[in-house]
Amino acid sequence: MDNLNNLPNQAGRIIIVTGANSGLGYETALALAKKGAKMIMACRSSSKATIAKEKIQQQVPNADLEVMEIDLSSLQSVRKFAKAFQAKYKTLDVLINNAGVMAPPYSKTEDGFELQLGANYLGHFLLTGLLLEIIVKTPQSRVVTLSSLVHKNGVINFDDLQSETSYNAMKAYSQSKLACLMFSFELQRRLEKAGNLQTISTASHPGIADTELSRNMPKFIYYLAKYTVAPFFTHAPSEGAKPTILAAIGDAKGGDYFAPTGLREMKGKPGKATATELSKDSDTAKRLWDVSEKLVDFKYL
Ligand SMILES: NC(=O)c1ccc[n+]([C@@H]2O[C@H](COP(=O)([O-])OP(=O)(O)OC[C@H]3O[C@@H](n4cnc5c(N)ncnc54)[C@H](OP(=O)(O)O)[C@@H]3O)[C@@H](O)[C@H]2O)c1
Repeated sequence: MDNLNNLPNQAGRIIIVTGANSGLGYETALALAKKGAKMIMACRSSSKATIAKEKIQQQVPNADLEVMEIDLSSLQSVRKFAKAFQAKYKTLDVLINNAGVMAPPYSKTEDGFELQLGANYLGHFLLTGLLLEIIVKTPQSRVVTLSSLVHKNGVINFDDLQSETSYNAMKAYSQSKLACLMFSFELQRRLEKAGNLQTISTASHPGIADTELSRNMPKFIYYLAKYTVAPFFTHAPSEGAKPTILAAIGDAKGGDYFAPTGLREMKGKPGKATATELSKDSDTAKRLWDVSEKLVDFKYL
């Protein structure tokens, strides 16, 4: 499946992509709009999202696109988004938890969370919970969550979840992406346990794609790599989006995890990904879920 032509038409289906204005989210929204889905571009900047929407419309003139504002680093904003969506729509076919930041200088969200844990994971944890009632009522629905190769370096540091004692930007990013993958697997287990068999949870990672995600990397390192070694282990965002598209509308079952299948899953044809034992550990996932419910003050499943 390295071209998307054989995937089913999505006319009549509603799909939310968070962070749809840039990189992988943009490519995912473009590809799914081409398939005929109504795309909700859930972005924190309406102006950036409107530019992205116009870019998609130029390529897909009949695309059905709607921009809705959400800041995943603000629980209040996540609640506001969910309320606005529920007021307008009664079904949701696919929620794609894509938005993310990597390795910023240490900062806290307005809710007091380390930014990466807050925006990459906790914001999506709450968003999924708030929209789940609609999702589980929609036949053949899915929740897709973006992880990363670096989940393999991640641990969930329950003693210092918000990196308050010490902050290592990549460690905190890895923790957030491990949390995303654990969440995806745990969500599937809980859906099954609750008997919600028409909804599945899947996950994906893009390998290494040249996007805005590297914005916090020193520029000279970025450009040095870009024009020397990077072409050997990175691919275009349109390629990096393919595992997510497969997880969203391809042949998948609950708990599946997709990635590029080339050398060390850095690039290549999309297919099944490898996940660490820790990411599949249900005791740790349950503990993380319980802590997350308390942090976002919302319980589900
Ligand atoms: N690129 C890779 O190689 C790679 C590898 C592994 C995993 N990933 C994952 O892929 C996902 C997409 O990343 P990307 O590579 O496409 O990076 P990107 O080009 O930087 O896109 C990230 C998107 O997330 C949005 N975002 C960031 N913080 C947000 C917040 N608080 N609220 C709402 N939206 C927010 C950004 O919005 P703004 O434009 O407004 O900042 C942007 O739309 C991330 O989850 C990332 O962890 C990427």
